[in-house]
Amino acid sequence: MNAPVEGFSKLSKAQKIDWIAKNCTTDAKATKQLLERYWNTDEAVQKLHDEFIENTLSNYYLPFAVAPNFLIDGELRTIPMAIEESSVVAAASKAAKFWLTRGGFKTEILGTEKVGQVHFIFKGDSKKLSAFFNEIHAELLKSVSAITENMKKRGGGINAIELRDWTHKIEGYFQLHCTFETLDAMGANFINSCLEQFAITLKEKASIYPNFTEEERNLEVVMSILSNYVPNCLVKAEVSCPISELGDNDMAAREFAEKFVRAVDIANVEPFRAVTHNKGIMNGIDAVVLATGNDFRAVEAGIHAYAAKNGQYSSLTHAAIEGDRFKFWIEIPLALGTVGGLTTLHPLVKLALEILQHPSAKELMRIVAVAGLAQNFAAVKSLVTTGIQKGHMKMHLLNMLNQMGATEEEKAQMVDYFKHNTVSNASVKEAMEKIRAK
Ligand code: MEV
Repeated sequence: MNAPVEGFSKLSKAQKIDWIAKNCTTDAKATKQLLERYWNTDEAVQKLHDEFIENTLSNYYLPFAVAPNFLIDGELRTIPMAIEESSVVAAASKAAKFWLTRGGFKTEILGTEKVGQVHFIFKGDSKKLSAFFNEIHAELLKSVSAITENMKKRGGGINAIELRDWTHKIEGYFQLHCTFETLDAMGANFINSCLEQFAITLKEKASIYPNFTEEERNLEVVMSILSNYVPNCLVKAEVSCPISELGDNDMAAREFAEKFVRAVDIANVEPFRAVTHNKGIMNGIDAVVLATGNDFRAVEAGIHAYAAKNGQYSSLTHAAIEGDRFKFWIEIPLALGTVGGLTTLHPLVKLALEILQHPSAKELMRIVAVAGLAQNFAAVKSLVTTGIQKGHMKMHLLNMLNQMGATEEEKAQMVDYFKHNTVSNASVKEAMEKIRAK
């Protein structure tokens, strides 16, 4: 590959594959075969996937799994998950089962407010800008009435528009900080359309505002965009039970409860641990967010910002012993949608939402928060008792066996052998060599 390619996006799919195969891989024939093997046999489904993004060559699979037995607010749910990491689904299922007989998960929606901003530079008298903003407030709202009409009919729309002064950070920098209720939609298109219209109206009205000087009339809109930081689109999920119900074979109940709380406290105060602790939570959250066709990058960005809201990155979960009870909970911002976007297009996303009994966005917030809490419970439980590797390496065993090209018979023998032996790269290699030498 020694020259830039011209007009790549205009090539047909077959031509793109040819170009990639010839210019970027050593075995062009094998590359083509591999890409084609991952095409869907149903042409219509493949076309749908091809059109999600640009320059599509093939599909990239992730396992689509379910974790059953989640008792959430008294209702049993089976949670779909799309994730590649071994042991995440097993851990979720284990945590679900553990809490099934201990009252299940309780959730609460603490808010559903979404945010968007018009960022602009105004070099002039901020008092005049405030007066101007108050005068055009109604006109700003009116200018988006065609965009908001349907959302308003369903009970959503614009909650508030606020003028925010950031001149202490950047000279002349102000915002229209806007809040929205987007109901079952994630709302990105709705919010961005409103914001871009606000920006047009703001500029137009400023250009003819009689009290402004020439420079003030010429305010500069820098950008208009939603924010993925949604600290008031918040959900809480919780489990609790008498400490006496916590024991299992690995540790006595009170000792376990105390060690668990200490582990969460460490993640609360120490960023190196907090990041890994929260990564474990995101194992559960991202898997459900992906399976239900939501934007996991938006969710990740918003949640991590929330974890740092007090000035230091810390745990998203909290644990406490109150008298004889153990309590464990999570509080996270989640801007999710169950209508629009991929939810009506991707066949597996549609199925995931059906498995969840067609949840509203609020219900999905509850379910996703529970998946995060369950995942964290399973991880911390393992960490403070047996250690993480025991379960993890057992699940990873199949990946290693597949890498070694093990037959089904070899796999069965190896799985049996490792029921009583410690899995490691070396021990698996050694055991396989022994089996193959027989
Ligand atoms: C691995 O994907 C996640 C964990 O590291 C989370 C944790 O340490 O809490 C096990």
